[in-house]
Amino acid sequence: MSGELDPRLLTRAREVVAGITGFREDAIAAEAVDRVMRSELARGRTPADLLGELLYPSSSLATVLVKAILVGETYFFRHPEHFRFLSHEAVPAVLQRGSLALRGWSAGCASGEETYSLAACLQASVPHGFPVEVLGTDIHEASLEAARRATYGTWSRRESAPRLFPLYTETGEREVTILPVVRRITTFAQANLLAPLPERFGRFDFILCRNVLTYFTPAARDAVISLLSRTLNPGGWLFLGAVEVDRVPAGMVREGPPELQAFRLLTPEELNARAAAASRAAAASRPSVTPVRRPPPPVAAPAREVAVAPPPPPTRLHLNALERIEEGDEVGASSVLEALVRQAPDYLPGLLELALLRERSGAREGAVPLMRALRTRAERLPPDQLVDGPEALPARFYQASADAYLNQGALE
Ligand SMILES: C[S@@+](CC[C@H](N)C(=O)[O-])C[C@H]1O[C@@H](n2cnc3c(N)ncnc32)[C@H](O)[C@@H]1O
Repeated sequence: MSGELDPRLLTRAREVVAGITGFREDAIAAEAVDRVMRSELARGRTPADLLGELLYPSSSLATVLVKAILVGETYFFRHPEHFRFLSHEAVPAVLQRGSLALRGWSAGCASGEETYSLAACLQASVPHGFPVEVLGTDIHEASLEAARRATYGTWSRRESAPRLFPLYTETGEREVTILPVVRRITTFAQANLLAPLPERFGRFDFILCRNVLTYFTPAARDAVISLLSRTLNPGGWLFLGAVEVDRVPAGMVREGPPELQAFRLLTPEELNARAAAASRAAAASRPSVTPVRRPPPPVAAPAREVAVAPPPPPTRLHLNALERIEEGDEVGASSVLEALVRQAPDYLPGLLELALLRERSGAREGAVPLMRALRTRAERLPPDQLVDGPEALPARFYQASADAYLNQGALE
């Protein structure tokens, strides 16, 4: 079928794809969107019917559109300098902190070449038998199925990226299969980076998120980096693609040369030392006032920024709940969050926090209505509007979190 398509249809289709993936408008291939819409119309559907379906980001049309625009280019030991740095600097630093196991996450792993490369690198960098686990996640289930098959052709091996660590064995003329020792420590799961990674996956010492955020809006990119840093262990490392951020993420320090884009999450001890230094500097710059000598507050959660002004009441209650969660008092946290949601039903971070707490405790039936309320309220806001909370995140983030939760499995 040729001729112009209804521009409202294409605009809505691109908006839906952007909302689900975090992609910038110009990173959504217009031909791919156009192709999907034409093929739907060729099947006898009307523009009004398609517009109606696009009201629902969980619809199968939205899923087809997302799959059509994703870019899955990847290969083994891509950016070899990251793997060398991991092996020589980052792994020894984590081991020195007394870790009893190493955990890695390849976030946006496509067909798994990066995940297996990370697993092989970590495994080769620790004493024999030291526990290593690596997770690969992607929004695209078909890519994950390819990753789980663990068999690759020549396109996954490039001369620009040498085989730095034992990774695969030749099993055919043009085919290699990942070594069982590497496969055994690697798992894959579907996850949208705009939503928090479910708690059951735990925390990580190393996260690679490379050649993914390059397609995202600045707001979506910042939200993802904030979520990634929350899943790092103190002192854990984040490796991004070459031009994906222009500043050091909150709570982290840059390590290695700037082009490496390697960041390390500050430890609580480092944060406390910084807070103490800042309060000494502030006291020194206040000559006429007798300084009140108070120790700096202990820092429990390295990824959260220290607030400078007293936060508004909903955020205060939220922070109180977060402290309880960190202390393991989930019952106390739950009653604080329930009070918060009653008092401030439009406070999006509270709805999300309580829903996630319920999900973690296995009460999905209690989480779903909260996620629905979150989605409805987030949809009313402009997608890039920042929402106050322990961290200011765009409304798009809350909408995508609720969508990802409510549509779990929709891309399978
Ligand atoms: C270009 S590949 C990069 C693969 C690998 N990280 C590398 O550097 O070789 C980008 C991957 O990010 C995934 N992706 C894009 N948006 C995503 C999102 N919102 N959540 C999870 N994965 C996403 C795509 O499906 C694709 O597989």
